[in-house]
Amino acid sequence: MPTILCLFGVTGDLSVHKLLPALYTLFEDNALPAHFKIIGFGRRDWSDDDFRKYVAEVLLKQKGECKPAFLEKLFYVSGNYTVPADYKKLQDKFIGLESTLKQKTNRLFYLAVPPVLYTDILTSIKNASLDKVGKGSWSRFLVEKPFGTDLVSAKKLNKLALKFFTEKQLFRVDHYLAKESVQAIRYFRKENQFLHSIWNNKSITKIEIQLFEEAIVGERGAFYDAVGALRDVGQNHLLQILVLIVMDAPKTESESAVRKARLKALSSLKAYKKGDIGKYAVRGQYEGYLSEPGVKNGSETETYFKVKAELTSSAWKTVPVYLESGKGLAVSKVTAKVFFKSAKKDEPNSITFLIQPGKGVEVSFEGEAIVTLPPQLSTKKIHGAYERIFLEAIAGDQTLFPHELEIEASWKFITPIVENWRETPLHIYKKKSI
Ligand code: BG6
Repeated sequence: MPTILCLFGVTGDLSVHKLLPALYTLFEDNALPAHFKIIGFGRRDWSDDDFRKYVAEVLLKQKGECKPAFLEKLFYVSGNYTVPADYKKLQDKFIGLESTLKQKTNRLFYLAVPPVLYTDILTSIKNASLDKVGKGSWSRFLVEKPFGTDLVSAKKLNKLALKFFTEKQLFRVDHYLAKESVQAIRYFRKENQFLHSIWNNKSITKIEIQLFEEAIVGERGAFYDAVGALRDVGQNHLLQILVLIVMDAPKTESESAVRKARLKALSSLKAYKKGDIGKYAVRGQYEGYLSEPGVKNGSETETYFKVKAELTSSAWKTVPVYLESGKGLAVSKVTAKVFFKSAKKDEPNSITFLIQPGKGVEVSFEGEAIVTLPPQLSTKKIHGAYERIFLEAIAGDQTLFPHELEIEASWKFITPIVENWRETPLHIYKKKSI
């Protein structure tokens, strides 16, 4: 069925580096629905043609090409996110495009803007009835992370969104869940039945999850400074990787069964109390961070953290989990390593999920390592995370998107830490020293 995507934040970092290139890849692969159109909504005073020129430049840079047939799908509405009349212009654009199609049309909205704007945008969409579509069509919302800045704000945002729309319409984005190499954790566990009896605290001694980036904050200083590393990638990406390692097998593969199993694992994280943060968490900031554009004078925002997490479920209690991430580090890699009891202390047995840049599973017994590629990483055509996000949202499958309660469970764990960071000193580290 024809679908019109309305993109808020077309000139932002996410659209430029991920969303527009992903849409172009889907176009090249003929994977977009028939008559797919994109409306950019933003503050720049652009015509459709200006927007097309802009997107062509972005894609030439990001993908090395841009076919005119893709540009013909693009339209633009110039407006202010907080001005109700501008949403009326957006409605007129939708109606104009829909009338040329003469068919029922779906509406997909993507909020790729700073989270402070979510309330205004969702409220204005509702007030302008932009979500109202004909019988048999749907309207859906992709909302980029961070979803809230702590437990209270996440609950507030969920409440507002669910006042206007239904849970079925809301697709909260955590693009790590849409990475094939992340989902491979769950497939690997499921397929290797011999692991089932040892996948618990009787045999597993430790879990280490690392998301290391050489990149620094660069142009995202203003956003990043208000968020910090733990909110940026800890509350979402690292916790979701952990969940895929420790969750029970869902009863079925339905979206509700999978999301329920994830929620159960997230809810078993032990929340720390004020006064305890220094025992479980360390934080750092790379030297030179304070001179990044957009960063506040004297900012204490962390660009690195290592947090020891504990799970309260009987299968996982006593297994320490180390979540670690940072920018300006010596390497870029994302891995999740599960350590098993071993007769030789200095050569532990382990299974490492290689998420990126290398993908696969490294099994190491007493020092001997073998890397295998789970079948879904070697045979199937692999879509990038954002391509997958668009496809799943269009298909209406929410399996790869966190439920309202998953978001809240992860904030229950993260909030006491970010609220009490001061209990642990901020270490200044040299770039590439970790
Ligand atoms: C984003 C964070 O969610 O994930 C970024 O906001 C981070 O700071 C990025 O760099 C990492 O994603 P990927 O897919 O490049 O590993």
